Amino acid sequence: MMAPWETDWHIARAALEWQLDMGVDEAICDAPVSRYDLPDKRETAQAPAKAAVAVPAGTGVAPAADPVALARHAAESAGDLAALQAALAAYDHCELKLGARNLVFADGQPNARVMIVGEAPGREEDRQGKPFVGEAGQLLDRMFAAISMGRDNPDPSKALYITNILPWRPPQNRDPSSDERAMMRPFVQRHIELIDPDILILMGRVSAGTLLETSEGITRLRGQWCDVMGRLCLPMLHPAYLLRNPPMKRHAWADLLSLQARLRDTT
Ligand code: URA
Repeated sequence: MMAPWETDWHIARAALEWQLDMGVDEAICDAPVSRYDLPDKRETAQAPAKAAVAVPAGTGVAPAADPVALARHAAESAGDLAALQAALAAYDHCELKLGARNLVFADGQPNARVMIVGEAPGREEDRQGKPFVGEAGQLLDRMFAAISMGRDNPDPSKALYITNILPWRPPQNRDPSSDERAMMRPFVQRHIELIDPDILILMGRVSAGTLLETSEGITRLRGQWCDVMGRLCLPMLHPAYLLRNPPMKRHAWADLLSLQARLRDTT
């Protein structure tokens, strides 16, 4: 007869094997989540949106904090890149932080003329703490190498500086919610101010949607020069999308040539 702890061990192992059979291939959080303890989604969906509640004067109760206002205050107080990274690390209002291994801040040359803003870290970026280092990132490096640009190039007109709208990996690479994007927007805007690039590349739908505040699709926006915070800006197709749709690479090539011409014209 098996000892009780042996039975528990076999039950736990069988449960894990069952999850593997179901296709689970990684743990998103460090600690297990009991689905029975989570609030009922239907109740949460119907609950009124969190808002700063008006409090009668003199009651001494603080109104609920507005996470976007807190983000704006934290971001605007950051005087340099190190302070901005520290402000992001200290920001506790975005739940994505709980499931991420690392804060993915940026990579490349801070004096680059071109700054790329992507969407969010994926699995490899979360592991390494650097943006665009997975399969899509390798394609991004090859795309820019084709016009002699790269994140390691010390020459500012050939260099790249790379960041994302979100510094934490969303579980299972799901789309970031509008609340998450709204919270991170002030940090990205401050990041852009501090780098002060000549040209911004909005890499993909989430980046273009968040910084241009539009729901227009990226296949319409790509290749159209526009303005973000008073600087030239080019929305492009995301390399992950190009990996899934190789025929669209010709549009990416047209956009890279357009970027090259613009950099030449604005020296
Ligand atoms: N996709 C992005 O948008 N950013 C990354 O850092 C990686 C993949």
